[in-house]
Amino acid sequence: MRAWLPAIVAFTCTVLSGCAAKPPGRIETSVINWAKHNVTIGGAHDRNPMPSTPDHIESGKQTFGAYCVVCHGRDGQNTGVPFAQTLSPPPPSLASRPVQSYTDGQLRSIISNGISPSGMPASKGILSDDDIWNLVVYIRHLPPAGSLGEPRAYSGDEYQSDSGDSKTKQTP
Ligand code: HEC
Repeated sequence: MRAWLPAIVAFTCTVLSGCAAKPPGRIETSVINWAKHNVTIGGAHDRNPMPSTPDHIESGKQTFGAYCVVCHGRDGQNTGVPFAQTLSPPPPSLASRPVQSYTDGQLRSIISNGISPSGMPASKGILSDDDIWNLVVYIRHLPPAGSLGEPRAYSGDEYQSDSGDSKTKQTP
């Protein structure tokens, strides 16, 4: 047992240093991605009750524009999010293959429960189950990167929207 101690300490340090605020390395990222897809993220077989119709895509887009936009951009691809690359791990493009290869049920589970200890918050109790399923529909139908412009919160319009100016009343 004693002989194992240095190895255990070294391993623990490696794991802990992986949590420090620096971008995760390529191997670390692929190991974490594998574990998330196959082990840690549940709900793989839950079916999305929402059909991919324009009104459900629009509904998901509205919710996304209110709750997710500050970290993921309006297009889910980080457009105009100034600190995106300084988060560790950074929010991935939701149009990317690793994200799109989750099942609908896994995406719902990610949105409900968040991903601890990263910056991805849990929406359970804040958003209804229907809202969360509609978000999944939106994530499956993201617009081209950059096509929606940047979030209003970062474009300086934020304060005008409280003044009742109808031009700025839409979602961020
Ligand atoms: C405070 C910033 C923040 C907010 C708000 C936020 N996210 Fe995230 N999100 C992140 C970060 C950081 C990650 C990367 C987490 C990781 O890989 O561990 C992430 C990852 C994700 C992923 C991919 C997970 C993976 O395993 O690759 C999805 C899907 C996602 N977010 C959806 C959403 C949705 C939908 C909302 C709105 C309800 C939202 N996020 C709100 C920061 C945020």
